[in-house]
Amino acid sequence: MALHKDVEAVLNRQLVKEFDAEMVYLGMAIYFDKELYKGFAAWFRKQSSEERTHAMRLVDYILDRGGNPIIPAVAAPKIDYGSAVEAFNAALAHEQANTAGIYECLATAQKVNDPATVEMLQWFVKEQVEEEKWAEEYARMVEKIHNSIGGMYQFDHRVGKVARGE
Ligand SMILES: [Fe+2]
Ligand SMILES: [Fe+2]
Repeated sequence: MALHKDVEAVLNRQLVKEFDAEMVYLGMAIYFDKELYKGFAAWFRKQSSEERTHAMRLVDYILDRGGNPIIPAVAAPKIDYGSAVEAFNAALAHEQANTAGIYECLATAQKVNDPATVEMLQWFVKEQVEEEKWAEEYARMVEKIHNSIGGMYQFDHRVGKVARGE
């Protein structure tokens, strides 16, 4: 069955969010690299490439359903943050906005009775639980320890290990 135009439109809006997240996280990776937090930089580099795979999942799905994925011109990301706390809170806000976008996609697919899209979106629903979990934990942790340079570098080291799968 052809993709309903409302579903095609909402998935294309989500595409923009995923590509935007790719760039935002690349900007954060650059910020942390310059701040010599190499572990956080590695983490955001990894998140950036994951966001690209999310965007490509949507591109592929729209194509599979005979629709037209519209690739956005993405805005240049911010590479300067006032602090690590600010950067991690921005990441959390991005993930929350992304979850809202996925829920909007889901609501639209349910409204026009499109079970294939509802099913495809389940992966994103689960992924957003994981995404909000790390974003929330990391933001809270950095808020707790940001006054301790030793604590910050220890946490940076740990996050770098997680990013490298160690
Ligand atoms: Fe994503
Ligand atoms: Fe994400």
